[in-house]
Amino acid sequence: MATEIRSKLLKMFTEIEGDFLSGQKISEELGCSRTAVWKHIEDLRQEGYELEAVRRKGYRIKTIPDKISHNEISLGLKTEILGRKIHFEESVTSTQRIAHQLAYDGAPEGTLIVAEEQTAGRGRLSREWYSPKHTGVWMSLILRPNLPPAKAPQLTLLTAVAITQAIEEVTGLRPDIKWPNDILINKKKTVGILTEMQAEADKINSVIIGTGINVNQAIEHFPEELHSIATSLSIELGESVNRAELIQVILLKFETLYHKYLEHGFYPIKLLWESYAISIGKRIIARTITGSLEGRAIGITDDGVLMLEDDKEEIHYIHSADIQIGSD
Ligand code: BTN
Repeated sequence: MATEIRSKLLKMFTEIEGDFLSGQKISEELGCSRTAVWKHIEDLRQEGYELEAVRRKGYRIKTIPDKISHNEISLGLKTEILGRKIHFEESVTSTQRIAHQLAYDGAPEGTLIVAEEQTAGRGRLSREWYSPKHTGVWMSLILRPNLPPAKAPQLTLLTAVAITQAIEEVTGLRPDIKWPNDILINKKKTVGILTEMQAEADKINSVIIGTGINVNQAIEHFPEELHSIATSLSIELGESVNRAELIQVILLKFETLYHKYLEHGFYPIKLLWESYAISIGKRIIARTITGSLEGRAIGITDDGVLMLEDDKEEIHYIHSADIQIGSD
């Protein structure tokens, strides 16, 4: 089915909110014959939509497939900038890689790259990010803030807040943030964020924010070694979560916070971030590339840098590390 017709048809069904649409109305709005309408409905069925047909009433969508396509994300998206341009792929090596190329080629702010599967998903500290088909949200967002490069880490913390808020809204679960960018549910990692940028000495050209969310995996979908440390939203919730809706809510929360950040600076974001943070006030071990530091996490600076007070009451400023949380 032509993408334009498909979008129009899905939009009509969205607007009618689960009610019936008559074949007559569809044929008028799409400007096609009743036979063509029937063909379009069959095409949607092929794509996994469950459609009920009732004589004299028409058609009604009963269930939407758990797919994340361009359409599923754009329909009902309420943002002004973020996700207004979407590159959707079934399978990619890494959405970060595609985003870097698009950013380099001049893609506008808000361009979103989403894939159903990544064959070489990348995590922080050169780790692999496990990204199997049809179960998670694997996406990269291109931003072009007018900021110095040193401020980019703040956007990681902003992203963590936006995703936490969206998960709360969509699932009712209460996630925690572990500095700088892990989102945990019941102490297990559910979301990872990877922020990268293209910049000159004093100016950001683009920030690429990669987000991996474990959404509908069952525990047996994870490799054995992750069973005790990773989880998914559906495991914690006991039911599956609509990934396209989750992406839409994330983009909306992100846009609101991003505008706030550009207008009022990092302080309001910092307050929100602190309200979700679990590491602050706790004893932690921070593993940096130069070695390990142990002490109490006493907060973050206005630039989002972690402050660790060691046992000699000396304060260390941590820009990048893996954090292990100990006791209170
Ligand atoms: C982490 O190590 O916690 C960060 C993981 C980031 C994974 C996401 S999935 C989408 C995007 N593409 C990638 O290759 N990585 C990021």
